[in-house]
Amino acid sequence: MSNGPIGVFDSGYGGLTVLKEITAILPQYDYIYLGDNARSPYGSRSFDTVYHYTLQCVEWFFAQGCPLVILACNTASAKALRTIQQNDLATIAPGKRVLGVIRPTTEIIGNFTKTKKVGILGTSGTVQSNSYPIEIEKFFPAVTVYQQACPMWVPLIENDEHNSPGADYFIKKNIGQLLTQSAEIDTILLACTHYPLLLDTLKQYVPAGTTILSQGEIVANSLVDYLQRHPDLESKCNKNGQLDFFTTDSAEDFDHHGAVFFGKPVKSTHLEL
Ligand code: DGL
Repeated sequence: MSNGPIGVFDSGYGGLTVLKEITAILPQYDYIYLGDNARSPYGSRSFDTVYHYTLQCVEWFFAQGCPLVILACNTASAKALRTIQQNDLATIAPGKRVLGVIRPTTEIIGNFTKTKKVGILGTSGTVQSNSYPIEIEKFFPAVTVYQQACPMWVPLIENDEHNSPGADYFIKKNIGQLLTQSAEIDTILLACTHYPLLLDTLKQYVPAGTTILSQGEIVANSLVDYLQRHPDLESKCNKNGQLDFFTTDSAEDFDHHGAVFFGKPVKSTHLEL
């Protein structure tokens, strides 16, 4: 197996919030980011469609030499990761690995709640997959999980409308729907990598003292741990501190919007899949 960069994938820009944290604590590695903006959002698409889109992108990462790909997208992690890990990897790329964002989060979420009641905000696809309640039950059986789909949030963010009164309306509405399920929820997970951009607005609509968790830092810390536990794979990850961005849609748009998610300028290349 050849050496290469670590691949980071999202349907669009959201994964940049994860890459931002990963590069902050692991700047020494090379990374390539792919946003499948042309087919985003994934959140409202069927299992089959998300699986096929994600697999196609994962195969592209492997063709670039990536020994490890991180699906920095909850929808892809919920709907495609298991099948890729269990059915595809052995035939398309034995020895390479694909990781998601759900497992690192569910492993620790129970440590943040005192009431043992947590709320999950995600896309319709992530919520319908039930991945969070199923996985949290394995690590924290005493924790009750409440979920709320927020189907408008990703389109609002992707269209640069996340600071508008329209966004406020949908944020207030969906948070209200979550908190109506239990007034004791004290920890809310932003189970979509786009949502950290809404953090300031979200804080206005949750009770004081509520913990709101974003996944970037959690996934980054978990990657540090994973690379330490898998030295063979780690040795295949190139270390020149190089960052390359690709998008299946307009590179100009990606650079413009992507900088907001990444917190720094980005320069992308258009990719025809
Ligand atoms: N950012 C993605 C997630 O974490 C998905 C957004 C979408 O394409 O719907 O779920």
